[in-house]
Amino acid sequence: MTTSVTIDLKPTAHPLSDAERAARMTNPGFGRVFTEHMVTIRWSAGRGWYDAQLTPYASLEIDPANMTLHYAQSIFEGLKAYRHADGSVVTFRPYENARRFQASARRLAMPELPEDLFVAAVDALVKQDHAWVPGEEEQSLYLRPFMFATEVGLGVRPSNEFLFMVIASPAGAYFAGGVKPVSVWLSKEYVRAAPGGTGAAKCAGNYAASLVAQAQAAEQGCDQVVWLDANERRWIEEMGGMNLYFVQGSGKDARILTPSLTGSLLPGITRDSLLRLAADRGYATEERKISVEDWQAGNADGSISEVFACGTAAVITPVGSVKSTDASWQVGDGGAGPVTLELRKALLDIQTGGAADTHGWLHKI
Ligand code: PLP
Ligand code: COI
Repeated sequence: MTTSVTIDLKPTAHPLSDAERAARMTNPGFGRVFTEHMVTIRWSAGRGWYDAQLTPYASLEIDPANMTLHYAQSIFEGLKAYRHADGSVVTFRPYENARRFQASARRLAMPELPEDLFVAAVDALVKQDHAWVPGEEEQSLYLRPFMFATEVGLGVRPSNEFLFMVIASPAGAYFAGGVKPVSVWLSKEYVRAAPGGTGAAKCAGNYAASLVAQAQAAEQGCDQVVWLDANERRWIEEMGGMNLYFVQGSGKDARILTPSLTGSLLPGITRDSLLRLAADRGYATEERKISVEDWQAGNADGSISEVFACGTAAVITPVGSVKSTDASWQVGDGGAGPVTLELRKALLDIQTGGAADTHGWLHKI
């Protein structure tokens, strides 16, 4: 899909000084500091996409009867911009995010933003706020495109008006411990998604519904929740905001498994990239259903040597231990395994310009 909508650039008249920006970018953490600009594009049933602007970052005024506040027609994406050693800036596979955003929109009865307009909006913001793209190791500029209903009214039906936006946030490690392994809680009481539900969409409601299980994981002394399928509470789906990978065996004979896309988990772009990077390195890869029993038995007999989670925000994070209502175990030696670290480095090297981009994944801004 292509579009003739162009983004009207209205940058701030009073940009921050280099010193003020540097102060805000020190130890940015995740999602706490935002850059100086944002992109907004409106949609209405009568006009389609219109009024695309890049403006200073600012609050929005929201009517109390805004439909999003009541019925959650709201979707988002997450991708990162990286600074390379020569100072240039790239994003990673932004057209994949654009396509997933369209798929999320279809599921939530929202309009589909054309792919090139999604990418142009992200590009415009990164270009304007390029000084906010960190150059330090493990840091990047996290980009958050999102869209929500703006019509006012309490009737339960799709809104006739939407606002698409992009904001940006300099980001360090998602988990305070960096590549330190996380402990996970297998959620049997709560499920994230059911067949026919919104699990494959990146919609705000999925995250709201996850919070009580995440709180339960924390009560159990765990860092993250692992979701199981809704029907049997048996099949591993994914983690909080990340997909999961299992390493069977070791060395070059290792097999790399990830739960298949059953419709109730998010089709992660990092997940897809790792399937290819693992195959490039000669590993056998497989997308299949993996049960809790498979995991527990594979752990007990040593056949599952490593488990890790992957996603844009968290990159690759090892899983060190598992707890559920009836069992708990340590994964491998509880540390970050060699395959996990090899794939993490392979991905980060491409993203940050340390290795050749043989798949054509980088998009130069
Ligand atoms: N699963 C969920 C629920 C997520 O929120 C995310 C993050 O976007 C992922 C998986 C990983 O997806 P990606 O690799 O595209 O960031
Ligand atoms: C991402 O990795 O981009 C995510 O969206 C995960 C989380 C911050 C929601």
